[in-house]
Amino acid sequence: MRNLWYKNAVIYCVDVDSFRDSDGDGIGDFRGLTDSLDHIEALGATCIWLLPFYPSPDRDNGYDISDYYNVDPRYGTLGDFVEFMRAAADRGLRVIVDLVVNHTSVDHPWFRASAGDPASKYRDWYVWRKDKPKDADKGVIFPGVQKSTWTRDPRRKEYYFHRFYEHQADLNIANPEVREEIERIMGFWLELGVSGFRIDAAPFVLEDLAKLEDGTDPHAYLAELQGFLSWRRAEAMLLAEANITMDEADEYFGSGDRLHVIFNFPLNQKLFLALARGDGEPVRAQLKALPALPAVGQWATFLRNHDEIDLGRLAEDERQEVFDAFGPDKSMQLYERGIRRRLAPMLGGDERRIAMAFSLMLSLPGTPVIWYGDEIGMGENMDLPERHPVRTPMQWSADGHGGFSTAAPKDWIRAPVLDGPFGPLFVNAQGQKTDETSLLSTVQRLIRVRRACREIGWGEMEVLDLGVSSVVALRFEWRGGVVVVLNNLADAPVTLDLGAVVGPAHARNLLRREADLRPDASGACALRLSAHGFEWLRLQG
Ligand code: NOJ
Repeated sequence: MRNLWYKNAVIYCVDVDSFRDSDGDGIGDFRGLTDSLDHIEALGATCIWLLPFYPSPDRDNGYDISDYYNVDPRYGTLGDFVEFMRAAADRGLRVIVDLVVNHTSVDHPWFRASAGDPASKYRDWYVWRKDKPKDADKGVIFPGVQKSTWTRDPRRKEYYFHRFYEHQADLNIANPEVREEIERIMGFWLELGVSGFRIDAAPFVLEDLAKLEDGTDPHAYLAELQGFLSWRRAEAMLLAEANITMDEADEYFGSGDRLHVIFNFPLNQKLFLALARGDGEPVRAQLKALPALPAVGQWATFLRNHDEIDLGRLAEDERQEVFDAFGPDKSMQLYERGIRRRLAPMLGGDERRIAMAFSLMLSLPGTPVIWYGDEIGMGENMDLPERHPVRTPMQWSADGHGGFSTAAPKDWIRAPVLDGPFGPLFVNAQGQKTDETSLLSTVQRLIRVRRACREIGWGEMEVLDLGVSSVVALRFEWRGGVVVVLNNLADAPVTLDLGAVVGPAHARNLLRREADLRPDASGACALRLSAHGFEWLRLQG
């Protein structure tokens, strides 16, 4: 069971450069993060996912790495990283890190050698062609920003492939030396104590292997990676960023020997459609379509992350509905498919609704992942380019422009949200910590209850039909325990009859002190949910 810790984990995602600055240079760092572990521990998270913190020219928020074996000097030293790992472990917090090996920065010495030195051993580490392929304008990930997937390098006088920006050259994973290096990178960070990796752009990592014509299944490489982990650190897990369809799940999870966890992107898109409509049906339908997973497999569920909300899997009219509700202004939309906003402003700053969104996310089957700042309802800075609006500095307190750094805000890594209803005066961690009615306190309570409901992380889920479409009602069962979670997406109260759900048993309210719910003599068991209300119940007896 210990090795399956991720099944009942709560993951908190941190971008070191915008979390807390300890030395007053305006850039968040490992010492600042170490000093802020109280917040993460008190929230109830059990694992921290660090966005890339490696040396990087930082043209894609660190997803353009120039050295896999170090910490970017702006964030501290390897020594600071080790101190942070020790402090996190002291609090029982695990740490996973981003493994970005689909590509490197073009500033990486490997790429420079591959492009500029014909005798280099890195010659074949990237994907090169003498001529520009005819389909070079196909498959761009950032339309409107990125024009092609092939760019000419003047040194080599050839074209290199880049699935993402042209400054991110794709590694040639088909080259066994590259695969060996990837294991060396993983081995390095495992030695420093990490509990696993978030594999960036997983489907694209497999792309080169798919082109090999030797009959190997590219997904088998995932088993190779898991095999490596199991030798080096058996409890380490692989969490993949893979926006896959449910039909592809088998290939990615294998029989439990490939990936452990995959972000459930399709469910996330349906969740926002459901929130936009105030109707649970899109979520219910998606949940019913979930394939069975191997016992060690798990979904990762989330509301927001550091990227845009990707709505690419919704039908066009559905996507338009979500745009209309949450990103009506063109400036809020991105790459023709997404919304570059934070959760709280999308939901109009309505705390009941934000809390319900958390309750819903935390009660979906899988391991919840929380984007820093969403737990206090932070807003976005729409003046920042591309995906940066949601990456503003953490708002710690009402004073000092939010307490992220002692430097003047103009020198901060990213321009913060300073004014308005989402500015630090109204939205900050310190103020919410001592206020029992704050969003932070509600999210803390929900996380505490979620962790105690191991049925959700481990058990069997059933989508309940209570005849009220705005309510997502889920029942989880594991080892004899039964938990029922009810979330009302509508802006109007509803009354449910839980008679058939509670049956001869009675139901204990897990969030509030209330008398147990018991069916009356006729078998009916009425429960009222307020507008955007939610209840977590445990069946007793
Ligand atoms: C996915 C990451 O989440 C995103 O931020 C990044 O730009 C791309 N992968 C490329 O690494």
